Amino acid sequence: MEKYTPVMSFDEHVAEVYDGLAQRGDEMATVAFLERLASGGPALELAIGTGRIALPLSARGIRVDGIDFSPAMVAKLRAKPGGNQIAVTMGNFADLAVPGTYRLIYVVFNTLFNLLTQAEQVRCFENAAAHLTDDGSFVVEGAVPADWYRLRNNQYVDLEAVEVGSVRLDVARYDPVTQTLEETHVLLSSTGIQLNPIVTRYAWPSELDLMARIAGLRLKERWAGWSREPFTSTSSNCVSVYGH
Ligand SMILES: C[S@@+](CC[C@H](N)C(=O)[O-])C[C@H]1O[C@@H](n2cnc3c(N)ncnc32)[C@H](O)[C@@H]1O
Repeated sequence: MEKYTPVMSFDEHVAEVYDGLAQRGDEMATVAFLERLASGGPALELAIGTGRIALPLSARGIRVDGIDFSPAMVAKLRAKPGGNQIAVTMGNFADLAVPGTYRLIYVVFNTLFNLLTQAEQVRCFENAAAHLTDDGSFVVEGAVPADWYRLRNNQYVDLEAVEVGSVRLDVARYDPVTQTLEETHVLLSSTGIQLNPIVTRYAWPSELDLMARIAGLRLKERWAGWSREPFTSTSSNCVSVYGH
C-alpha cells in the first residue's frame, strides 16, 4: 500500500473508537492466563495500546510496563483509572528499548504482525529474549493465516457492521509472497466516508517457532485460545509461549 506508514493505523480517530469496536477475545481469560505466567511479575506488554489487557492485569497486583508508538492510543490508556501508574516507553516495540528484565513479555491480538517484514519480527523475538528472565515467558497471540490461502483472487470484502445510518466494510488484498495483508476498514455513513488502512504481515506458527529459535528461545506451550483450548489443524487462533 503506497504511502502507508504503520502509525497512521492508530491515529486519534482510531483511538477514539478502538475500545468500542469488535470483540478482541476473552479479556478475563487472557488476563488469567498472563497472570499465571507472570507469577508475581514484572510484565511488559509490547503495543500496550489503550490498556485493554495491561490495566486489568495490573489491577491484579502485577507490575505491567508497556511500549507503544501511538500517542493517541496511550492517551486513552492514561485517561482510564490506573492508567497513570503504568510506565509506557514510546517507540517501536521491535526495539524493546527498555531497561531490565521481565518474567513475562507479551504481544496479543495479531499485533506482532504489525511489524511488516520477517527481519523486523525476528528482531522483536531477539530483543524479547534479551529482556526475559531465565524463567520468563514470551507470549505471542496471533491468527493462523490459513484463511488468506482460501480467498478468490487473494482478496475479500467483509461486512463488519450494519446500522440504520451506516455500514462498515473490511476490504482487503493478500500477497502470499510477502505474506502481507493490505486492508482498509471503510465506514460509509450519512456524514461521509472514513477510511482506516492497516497492513499486517502474517506468519505461520512454524515460522514463529523458527524466529524464536533464532533468538535462542524454544516453544514451551501452544494453545488455540486463552482458555488453553487444544491447538489443532482447524484452529484459527494461536497462543504461543516461548522461553529460554
Ligand atoms: C490492535 S492495537 C492492540 C492494543 C492492545 N495490545 C490490545 O490488545 O488492545 C495495536 C497497538 O499496537 C501499536 N503498534 C503497532 N505497531 C507498533 C510498533 N511497531 N511499535 C509500537 N507500537 C505499535 C499501536 O499503536 C496500537 O496501540
